[in-house]
Amino acid sequence: MALVCVEDYEKEAFRNIPKNTLEFYRSGAGSEFSLALNVDAFKRWRILPRFLRDVGGVNTACSILGCKLSTPIGVAPTAMQRVIHDDGEIGNARAAGKVGGIFILSTVSTTSLEEVAKAAPNTSKWFQLYIYKDRSLTESLVRRAENAGYKAIVMTIDCAHFGARRADARYKFKLPSHLGLLNFQGDRASNAKSMQGFSGIQEYANAQYDQSITWADVDWLVKFTKLPVIAKGVLTREDAFLARDYGCKGIIVSNHGARQLDSVPATIEVLPTIVDVVGNDMTIMFDGGVRQGTDVFKALALGAKAVFMGRPLLWGLAVNGQKGAEHVLELVQRDLELTMKLSGCVNMSDITKDYVAHESQFSK
Ligand code: FNR
Repeated sequence: MALVCVEDYEKEAFRNIPKNTLEFYRSGAGSEFSLALNVDAFKRWRILPRFLRDVGGVNTACSILGCKLSTPIGVAPTAMQRVIHDDGEIGNARAAGKVGGIFILSTVSTTSLEEVAKAAPNTSKWFQLYIYKDRSLTESLVRRAENAGYKAIVMTIDCAHFGARRADARYKFKLPSHLGLLNFQGDRASNAKSMQGFSGIQEYANAQYDQSITWADVDWLVKFTKLPVIAKGVLTREDAFLARDYGCKGIIVSNHGARQLDSVPATIEVLPTIVDVVGNDMTIMFDGGVRQGTDVFKALALGAKAVFMGRPLLWGLAVNGQKGAEHVLELVQRDLELTMKLSGCVNMSDITKDYVAHESQFSK
């Protein structure tokens, strides 16, 4: 049977990946209320198509923070991708390059940032940063990302303390011993390098990440790096204002794939409220629950300039390595193009909030 959508890939991946590994990658925090909500909330937005608009040519080209792209669809940072398939981060980075979208590399990757840069030179790459207690280690990550040609630093703001995932408590997922956190090779790496000695990723993160970080650290990072800084994990207007005022060039509206605090809103619920207040001041981007072209279209219509997917690329990798990841991105890209044609939009700038309506509007 042909795999024709992300849901097909998800089902196939769930069959392929061993249970304790799958639980780490699939799960969300707490009772997983927000995990389901991220996906479900898209259904409450309806698309209002316009017709007779000459949709012969559709173009998804766009420019995000200086990166010239063929698509606004990109790959969100997810940890330890070689656990899923040996193609890992390089496979996903090349897949993003193939469709002309952004690839964001996680700090806790199983391939070093330099190796990814070397293997995917033509992909627009950003580096996701966790702030470690060891500040000189953090500084060196930023400098290495600059030197390797990454175009932005994505500082994850929602993970000073790791979320409680029941799946982690049950299965205590650990990095297999043949893999390592390869951004931490070498002398200075101390015990950040591997998860050996920690009972699971949660214990590793809580031991290594600096839990005392505040907006003063965003201020530090903005001054320290020559790259644009993007705050990932914004869910409120208040934090969006702070990100802007502390010098971030963009934000990613994100709830970390519902892996941090359960009961937070779906990201598509808060996106319009944030765009409303800072949409003209910064580049607003989005992730969480995106599984098809109509989801991307809705996020774009509500003001996002780029839209990232996390888990779908892991399912692509699990099924067929880099080729699977490429296919997942192509499927969602084609679905976005089709959605544009069927709703009367030809360019990115055509997709505005006039094309979507929340279901509450129909019950008035
Ligand atoms: C993540 N996410 C994440 N975010 C981050 O800033 N650094 C990281 O290392 C990780 N690691 C990670 C691992 C796994 C297994 C998942 C599922 C997620 C969050 C990620 O960047 C993104 O916000 C969500 O995955 C988006 O939601 P979807 O597309 O998975 O629904």
